[in-house]
Amino acid sequence: MVSFSRKTFLKYGISFGVILSTSQILQYCKTSSKERYDYERKDPFGPGFLSENISPILKAIRIGITAPNPHNVQPWKFKLIDDHSAFLYVDEKRLLKDTDPTFRQIHIGQGTFLENLSLGIQVLGYFAEVSLFPEGKYTIGDIGKKPIAKIVLNKQEDIVRNPLSEFISDRVTRRSIYEGEDLTQEDFEKIRKDSAVLYSELKFIPKAGSENLRKQLVAAMQMETDTYNTYEESRIWFRYNDEEIGKFKDGLSLRATGVSGLKYFFARNFFLKPGVESWHSDENKKAGMDMFTSQVESSKGFIFLKTDHNEIIDWVQAGKDYLRLQLATTKNGFSIHPMSQILQEYPEMDPIRNEFESSLRSGEKIQMLVRLGKSDYHYYSPRRDPKDFIL
Ligand SMILES: Cc1cc2nc3c(=O)[nH]c(=O)nc-3n(C[C@H](O)[C@H](O)[C@H](O)COP(=O)(O)O)c2cc1C
Repeated sequence: MVSFSRKTFLKYGISFGVILSTSQILQYCKTSSKERYDYERKDPFGPGFLSENISPILKAIRIGITAPNPHNVQPWKFKLIDDHSAFLYVDEKRLLKDTDPTFRQIHIGQGTFLENLSLGIQVLGYFAEVSLFPEGKYTIGDIGKKPIAKIVLNKQEDIVRNPLSEFISDRVTRRSIYEGEDLTQEDFEKIRKDSAVLYSELKFIPKAGSENLRKQLVAAMQMETDTYNTYEESRIWFRYNDEEIGKFKDGLSLRATGVSGLKYFFARNFFLKPGVESWHSDENKKAGMDMFTSQVESSKGFIFLKTDHNEIIDWVQAGKDYLRLQLATTKNGFSIHPMSQILQEYPEMDPIRNEFESSLRSGEKIQMLVRLGKSDYHYYSPRRDPKDFIL
């Protein structure tokens, strides 16, 4: 948990002339509580939602959109066919052109959605039949125009639920400082077994011996920070306060970064000012880098997910596997935080990425790289209203 000590709070409080009531302090101190605030994503299996009179396909979409996705842009749109089926498209208005110029990560986010929907809808007694690229050959030029998948729900009373479906409500990306013991090979084997990935290979990098990797991750984030367009892309998707989080219901934020308590209060009210100039200032960049470095250093181990090929279909399938990996880590009590900077394909990152991937065979690609550890920080990043996704 990231928070200020009482002494530090008093020091800052006195210098800023701040007096807070107990309820205000509690409001800023959201940390390990699993209670969901209004600006957070709703539980798709909550009783209020399940009793709502909407079609099975809308219920399935509502579950699916709680999937992890890059920068929480929620890059999905749907054409409903009937109450039990729909087409999934990439939402071409929600791409990350600077950090994801090949659109690889956006397609990983299509796979996470499909797997989240398929596992989750089993809870409601349906089997999801998913056909990828139902209109035939799909290229980058088809983004937003040709569907990624056709989804058909079939009622199946005796359906055997995948145990991972139980962890959809709780799954979150945690970017806080990690605590606990280093991950062991045995921990990794349990996670690998539970995730039962279908299309990719999972590799474990223990904390011991990860010095070089940690340096490379920090160098990659420094490159993203110092490259104007890629850093600017994060600003565009950054929501500065709870009001903005509640209004846009997407993107990144201090809360999503694991900053809470009084540190959140001071950052939000005194240090973090909206606007291009402040975002790209040396102080803001240094604060971001300091936070990132401490996140990396607190990692208790790393896992990466590798595919033999690097075509669009591999990206979607890697996304399905990543969703399973994250549910399996949730099941085993570990938190997980992707560190994608080093995998990204813009020219400034080429030297760092090429060095990192130099041991791969031709055609192989590391699709996701995550740090793991334990943390009780809890924040459910928001999701837009499901009806906003429907064409
Ligand atoms: C392809 C992909 C890449 C991601 N890369 C990063 C990353 O580099 N850093 C990060 O903090 N989160 C990363 N994430 C996590 C997303 O930001 C996160 O899923 C999103 O904000 C929604 O939050 P949630 O997972 O808690 O629901 C990535 C997720 C996906 C699917």
